[in-house]
Amino acid sequence: MRHLEGAYALIFKSQHYPNELIACKRGSPLLLGVKELNEDICNGSAFSDSKFVSKDGAPKELFLSSDANALIEHTKKVLVIEDGEVVHLKDGGVSILKFENDKGRRGSGLSRPASVQRALSVLEMEVEQINKGKYEHYMQKEIHEQPESLTTTMRGRLICGGSCKSQTVLLGGLKDHLKTIRRSRRIVFIGCGTSYNAALAARPILEELSGVPVTMEIASDLLDRQGPIYREDTTVFVSQSGETADTLRALEYALENGALCVGITNTVGSAIARHTHCGVHINAGCEIGVASTKAYTSQIVVMAMLALAIGADTISNQARREAIIDGLFDLPSKVREALKLDQEMKELAKLLMNEQSLLVFGRGYNYATALEGALKVKEVALMHSEGILAGEMKHGPLALVDETLPIFVIATHDACFSKQQSVIHQLHARKGRLIVMCSKGDAASVCPGESCRVIEVPHVEDCLQPVVNIVPLQLLAYHLTVLRGYNVDQPRNLAKSVTTE
Ligand code: AGP
Repeated sequence: MRHLEGAYALIFKSQHYPNELIACKRGSPLLLGVKELNEDICNGSAFSDSKFVSKDGAPKELFLSSDANALIEHTKKVLVIEDGEVVHLKDGGVSILKFENDKGRRGSGLSRPASVQRALSVLEMEVEQINKGKYEHYMQKEIHEQPESLTTTMRGRLICGGSCKSQTVLLGGLKDHLKTIRRSRRIVFIGCGTSYNAALAARPILEELSGVPVTMEIASDLLDRQGPIYREDTTVFVSQSGETADTLRALEYALENGALCVGITNTVGSAIARHTHCGVHINAGCEIGVASTKAYTSQIVVMAMLALAIGADTISNQARREAIIDGLFDLPSKVREALKLDQEMKELAKLLMNEQSLLVFGRGYNYATALEGALKVKEVALMHSEGILAGEMKHGPLALVDETLPIFVIATHDACFSKQQSVIHQLHARKGRLIVMCSKGDAASVCPGESCRVIEVPHVEDCLQPVVNIVPLQLLAYHLTVLRGYNVDQPRNLAKSVTTE
């Protein structure tokens, strides 16, 4: 360990040391699962050496895993192994030793590692959550679960007034830090992939309600540039797994620079949840498909709630906040309505399954939807797809337009609607092969003379529209993948948690 660089979680077994196992980690996640504990070492008690041998001397079952999902069918009791710790399993007993980072690196005297004492945690998930149920794939299940996952994300966090008029938002993990966030010089969102896209979708409402400038950072790029992060910044780390290596490194970097670090993750006890100063769990339930779907929509909702909480001290935006809170209450039913497009998206997938490429145009709140929709298509359907900011159309992408290339345009009703209408006209003029997503009832105004294929989605408050709009694109990506015969839940070359840089 003293010689290794980078992130790792390793398990060693040797024929020279039968009945022994050594595990260690730095940067990557590692959990020790413990099955059938005695009463006296159940949740909350401190862990120490050899307690895992029962009175009759029989060893308990012990599991090592990088992910709680793999443990849950065996045990809910886990010990989260920290960086620099070494787990030693011998003849059914366990000891955990902590090696100080730099001790013994130079010179001859290797310091004696300290023995670790720590409480066991209990995983808050059920084995049913990792079953596919009536669905064929996890991705399909997770897409269809979204009305419920969104409800869970919001549970206990939206507070009604006396007349049950929606009033306010309560984010327990942040309440002591809201003043600091309001006073910060900038809010910096940091994440990768879908989590970055979710933050991008929430950015406009955060800017609007908080009045604080919001900037976006892809974690790896921030690290490559060693971009400036200041003590006066609030940095928000968005990650489904809470273990993404780039995001974790960016968190270490922000901590070193003295910024307030907020975590938004789906994984209780993950490295990002543990190392940030405060945060919000998105409570979307465990997500198994490599393609992130329900975590994306829950992340947007949490960040919209974050915007509401930060902006709660401003009277002038009260009506707007109330409208958004009302919209949040209605959101699960609107997503349920959008899920009814399943068959329509399957038909569209049949039409597109042999294409090489798909462009997705969006702007404003739905620039993120374009990026995320395209990411889903390329990630699982293995079809080239690009999300394009519609305002950039004439600065390059327009050259690609012809009668063959399918183009998906998101034109739901918001402040950018007329601009999107104009984009559609221009694409039309170049004989573009258009598929337009619009708000219910808008078909005639986006697609005069039925010249293109239209997908109508339910209308919600503008800042929540990305949550509804991504649903048809998730369904499209799913059906394209099945039709093209690729692995839906484990796309080639990808991993659910990217724990190396
Ligand atoms: C999403 O479909 C991807 N699998 C990927 O982009 C993912 O969002 C990214 O690796 C970040 O993961 P995280 O949210 O666990 O940090």
